[in-house]
Parts: sequence; C-alpha cells; structure tokens
Amino acid sequence: MSMDFADRVQRVSPSATISIGNAASALEADGVDVVDLSVGEPDFPTPENVIEAGKEAIDAGHTGYAPSPGVPALREEIADKLRADGLDYGAENVMVTPGGKQALYEIFQTIVDDGDEVVLLDPAWVSYEAMTKLAGGSLSRVDLAPHGFALEPALDDLVETVSDDTTLLVVNSPSNPTGAVYSDAALEGVRDLAVDHDFTVISDEIYKEVTYGTEATSLGSLSGMADRTVTLNGFSKAYSMTGWRLGYFAGPEELISQAGKLQSHSVTCATHFVQYAGIEALRNTDDAVTEMREAFRERRDLLCNLLADRGIDVPKPEGAFYLMIPVADDDQSWCERAIEEAHVATVPGSAFGAPGYARISYAASADRLEEAVSRFDDERLL
Ligand SMILES: Cc1ncc(COP(=O)(O)O)c(C=O)c1O
Repeated sequence: MSMDFADRVQRVSPSATISIGNAASALEADGVDVVDLSVGEPDFPTPENVIEAGKEAIDAGHTGYAPSPGVPALREEIADKLRADGLDYGAENVMVTPGGKQALYEIFQTIVDDGDEVVLLDPAWVSYEAMTKLAGGSLSRVDLAPHGFALEPALDDLVETVSDDTTLLVVNSPSNPTGAVYSDAALEGVRDLAVDHDFTVISDEIYKEVTYGTEATSLGSLSGMADRTVTLNGFSKAYSMTGWRLGYFAGPEELISQAGKLQSHSVTCATHFVQYAGIEALRNTDDAVTEMREAFRERRDLLCNLLADRGIDVPKPEGAFYLMIPVADDDQSWCERAIEEAHVATVPGSAFGAPGYARISYAASADRLEEAVSRFDDERLL
C-alpha cells in the first residue's frame, strides 16, 4: 500500500532558501569551505541580556504552557511598540506566535479561501507563494524588477492587477529579497487601492529595524488602513533570535480571535520562557540593534562597491540584508555553478519570481564577502 498525500502539500515545493542552505551544509560536512550567502539569518549572537532573560525565565519556572495568544506582558509590550509606529493597538490586537512564519501561515489560513485572489509584489519572499497555495488561493503578481525594485513606479501595474475580486495583497518593506524600502507615496497608493477594492493587506515588517538612513513606514498607520491591515513582525532578524522562534501579528480583534482558533488547535502557544526573552529584547536592545545595523550597512556598501568595480550596478538596498544581482537568464544553473565550482551559496532569483537574478545575503563578515566575490572572479561567474 502506498500512502496517499493531500493535494495541498503536493501543490508546494520545499523552501528554496532552506534547500540551498542544506546543500551548503552537506558540502561543509565533506570538509569543503563554503561561503554561505544563502541564509536569511544575522551572523551575530543573540544579545547577552536577552539570553539571560530566557535563562531566568526557565529558572523562574515558566516552562509550562503559556496563554495561547501570548503572555500578557509581552502582548502589552508589543502593543506599545506598535503604538510608537503609529498603530492604535492594545494587547488584545496582538497574537504572539512561534516565529513570523507561523504568524503568516495563520493569517493566510484565516483570510484566504479556495480560489481567492492573493496579489504578490515580485520579487517576493518564497513562502508567500507556498502559503497562498496551501490555503487554496490563486496568485496574481506584479513585477517590480523593471522598476529597479521600487513600488511607486509600479503602481500603475498594481492598479491593473487588483480588482474587487482581490482578497489579499502582501507588502514587505524592507523587502526580502531586494532590500527595497517603499516610499510613503507608494504605500498611499496601496492604501487607496485597498480602500477602493476593499481588500486586506499583510504588511510584513520583519526587517523594519534594519534600515540604512531611512525609515520604513507601517502601512497600518495610514488613515483608512487600521482595520484592513495585518501587521507582521518577529524577533529573528532585529534581535538575532532566529532559533528562539518568536514572532507576532497584529490586527483587528476579530482577526485575533478567528486566527486564535488555529493557534490553539495547532501549536497551542509560543514557547513560554522564550516570550520573556522577547520582552527583554523589546525593552533593552537599542545598542545591540544599532551595532548590527551599522555592521550591515558597512557590508552593504562593501558589496555594492565590489560589484560596481566589476561593472555591475545594482539599486542600493535601503534595508534588510539582501541584494539581488543580475546573473544569467538561467539563474538556477548560475547558482548551481556558484555552489559547485566557487563554493559560494546564493539563492536563484526564480524562487522569488525574479528570473535572471541571484539573491545574496550580506549577513556575513567583510572577509567572507570579499572571498565570495574573488571566487566569482576565479570562476568567471560575474
Ligand atoms: C520576509 C520574511 N518574512 C517572515 C520571515 C519569517 O521569519 P521567522 O519565522 O524567523 O520569524 C522571514 C524569514 O526569513 C522573512 O524573510
């Protein structure tokens, strides 16, 4: 007898970024020195005070289940942060989840029905497509690549794409994979369309703390957007807490209670003691965040200069820690050559809806970035 698998899992493929990371780990296990620029993970330790808060929470006995939507003090702290970003929320508008990915999964499952239209702005982070398919939604895509990855000049295309049939639009600023931070004018354009056509917008703000000389506006703070925006964030990127698995989303109370059914019947809650580390991260990490941001900024500049020296001009990312470089029409083969011949791991742009590009994560030391570019030179990849 062979097992019969549900259509919903057969509609999706494994995450491209995680697959490349696995390939890099396999080479490393064989003793190969791989420069891994494929991972979306800061290369800094979690700040010491956050680690201590986690340990203290274990010692204090916070090792049982937490309330399903989150520890009240953390929900309050998150609501305070959101209010500072211009969103008029209280603790009851916040759901704490085991990672931003789980938050997104719950949002898609709560909002998207079979056949509902979900609009993505390409290049878009790999999991939005998979989550749409898992929820049974149908995808429409607007390509920002011809506009240097900016949203404002692509608004006309967005106008053509959305309609009264649109259920959900996903906006991710700063963007993974492009590092673009969308202008207020662009976000106002999105707001006007969302109000006109009455659709919901996910504002994925997981890289909001990682910007260089600019601020990423919270879409939900624009007038008319409070009750149609779901704001998504997490602790992985800003506080270097990827392995702690802590994230959250915020929106109208009814969304929290509907999605709360999914959370309570699946993961139950985010890990209890981890939530105390989250409170500490929100309260006392300004210096650590500034330090990481500055390091990323230097690496971004270094990488852009190294590429410019080779005649490759890319739009300078204003946030996150990724850069899209134009490579070859067949970006998949290019990335395979990069890992097999140069031992540099990158992610094919096609995985993000941007064929012809590769995504480089510059969450790596300056030495490793220089090493990667020199290996590209040796193998004539650029
Ligand atoms: C755009 C974006 N959103 C959400 C996430 C989810 O991160 P996590 O589940 O670690 O909170 C990621 C992680 O790579 C991301 O790049």
